[in-house]
Amino acid sequence: MEELILTRISKADRYAELFPQIQHLIDGEKNLIANLANTAAALHQAFPNLWTGWYLVDRNELVLGPFQGPVACTRIPYGKGVCGAAWQRMETLVVPDVELFPGHIACSSLSRSEIVVPVYKDEKVVAVLDLDSTERNAFDSVDANWLEKICALLAVQFASL
Ligand code: SME
Repeated sequence: MEELILTRISKADRYAELFPQIQHLIDGEKNLIANLANTAAALHQAFPNLWTGWYLVDRNELVLGPFQGPVACTRIPYGKGVCGAAWQRMETLVVPDVELFPGHIACSSLSRSEIVVPVYKDEKVVAVLDLDSTERNAFDSVDANWLEKICALLAVQFASL
């Protein structure tokens, strides 16, 4: 039943519903990890992707943050994989087929497409939000636009690097 209802709602409508819920979840809570964790959970529940989570910038690496889904790589060097590339290029990367992305890091062999959105604080990348799907072409500009808005919500809670 739940699934039937979900499939009738467009992705854009689902994001439009989810966004104020995330705002409400993090409103008044100053703990960054708690808010990253609840945001990952809310996104993962709304969109049944393979993996939804955060990597946090720690010097010249990304370190695994709160996530939902299978066990993942703990550290990703600057510029490496889709996550490191999004950090280096300072842009959202939508990867329709991970097998065609040079240097893609396969934390799970089930991943087929991916989107990575940087979180900016004082014009620096402080973290990235990463979603993986078992389907090719799962992500598009609708995801990019809404996930960027969600990252901007969380950005204010990061310490400057
Ligand atoms: N595929 C990512 C690694 C992180 S996992 O997907 C959770 C990458 O290429 O950076």
